[in-house]
Parts: sequence; structure tokens; C-alpha cells
Amino acid sequence: MIPALALYGIQKRFGATQILRGVDLAIEPGERHALIGPNGAGKSTLFNLIAGGARPNAGRIDLFGAEITRLAPAAITRRGLARSFQTTSVFARLSVFDNLRCAAMLAERDRTRWWQRFSGSSTVDARAGQVLEAVGLSARRRTQAGTLSYAEQRALDLGLALAGGAHTLLLDEPTAGMNRAEAARAIELIRTATAGRTLLMVEHDMDAVFAIADRISVLVQGRIIATGTPAAIRADAAVRAAYLGDGFRA
Ligand SMILES: Nc1ncnc2c1ncn2[C@@H]1O[C@H](COP(=O)(O)OP(=O)(O)O)[C@@H](O)[C@H]1O
Ligand SMILES: [Mg+2]
Repeated sequence: MIPALALYGIQKRFGATQILRGVDLAIEPGERHALIGPNGAGKSTLFNLIAGGARPNAGRIDLFGAEITRLAPAAITRRGLARSFQTTSVFARLSVFDNLRCAAMLAERDRTRWWQRFSGSSTVDARAGQVLEAVGLSARRRTQAGTLSYAEQRALDLGLALAGGAHTLLLDEPTAGMNRAEAARAIELIRTATAGRTLLMVEHDMDAVFAIADRISVLVQGRIIATGTPAAIRADAAVRAAYLGDGFRA
């Protein structure tokens, strides 16, 4: 099977410092994959490379078998990979529903030919409505996005990625800044709203990781030291040893 996302020998240096030392990873379509590891291991750097925010010094990144290594972020987004849970993509003065419509409209524009675009907005509205429900914001449909709570804005941001048609999602610490109850709700929302799509997420809350991940990879000092099911990772001696005395929050 062609992986949804495949990394081959990814290396990244900042100046003389080697941050990623040859990362290989293959994520199956529809898989929920968690990337864990100590602070400073290179997790966010790896996400940035995948999303096109920077280029690796060596290695290749494929999305459904097509190389994306040197594409610009917008081109990678158009191919269906979205980096989410960054509130910056929300239009603060538009309603929640109109934010979702904008995302759906942009996706539609990329998919259709110009003479088909004026045939009405029913697909766009239908898609926005579906996503509104999926991310649990039906009661906030007419609310100005900028006035939502922090957790709600993050839910909307996930909704924007979904409305935009992303089939592969990168979530970097989606529950950061949330209390335990909000975090648990956010994880449940991510699990249900992204069903059927491919998910790669960095998360420190191990309860959340075990609740959502099909497989887990452990990044330590720029290398993946283990990949496996939650049960296998929990039992892995090397993983346990790597965390002794470092800043990992388990
Ligand atoms: N743009 C950059 N320039 C220089 N060093 C960086 C840059 N981005 C990240 N780093 C360094 O790379 C290392 C890995 O950072 P990061 O990928 O954010 O780790 P993680 O997300 O796993 O906590 C850290 O030591 C960090 O200081
Ligand atoms: Mg990080």
C-alpha cells in the first residue's frame, strides 16, 4: 500500500547543529500516528519540514507517493495536507459558519473550473454545515470567530482544515494551553471529526496519545528510536531508558 505520508532519511541542521539525523517514517492512509519525545527532540522542526515551512538538508517527503519535499506550503496544502490548531488562520470578524464557508470555497475553487464556480454555493454550504457539526460548534454558528473561547477557536481551526478538504492532518500539541477537561474534549473531538483521515500529531499528554493513536513513534535527539502500537511502545525498554532523567512528561 502507498503510505499517506512517507519520510525518507530526513536530516535538518541549524547552523552547525544537527537537529534531525535521518528520520524514516511511513504512515498508512487513515492511520492515527502520534509522535512523542522530549522537548527539543525536533518534533516541531519535522512538522515544519513536512508542511513546507523549511527544507531538509537531506531526505525526501512523499504525500500519497508523490514527492512534496521542495514544494511551497500553499502547494502542499492544495494537495491535501493541513497543519492545524494554529488560531492564526481564523478570520476573527467573520462568523464561525462564514469562516468554514471560506475554507470550503477555497477548496472548491481549486477543484473546479472557473465556469463551474458560479453555479451556486450549495456544495460549499453543505460542506460547511457538516464540518460545523463535526467540530461541535453548531451552537456557535453565527458567533464572531474572534469572540470564541480558546478551545473553541482551536476546534474551528481544525474545522477549517476539514472544510478545506485536507486528507492528512498535522497537529502539533493540539491540547497545549488547555486544562485537563478541555484537553480530553479536544482529543475526543479530534478523534471523531478526523475519522477516515490520516493524522500525525505531537502530544505530550500520554492519556491522550493512548486514547487516539494507532501507532506511536518516539523521536529522541533527532532520531526515531521506536515505532509501534501503544502497547508495544509502553513496553519498549529503549523508550523507557531514553526518558530517564530528561524532560519528557509522561
Ligand atoms: N529556526 C531555528 N533555528 C535554530 N535552531 C532551531 C530552530 N528551530 C528549532 N531549533 C532548535 O532545534 C531543536 C529542536 O526544536 P523543536 O523541533 O522545536 O523540538 P520539539 O518540538 O521536539 O520540542 C531545539 O534545540 C531548537 O532550539
Ligand atoms: Mg515542539
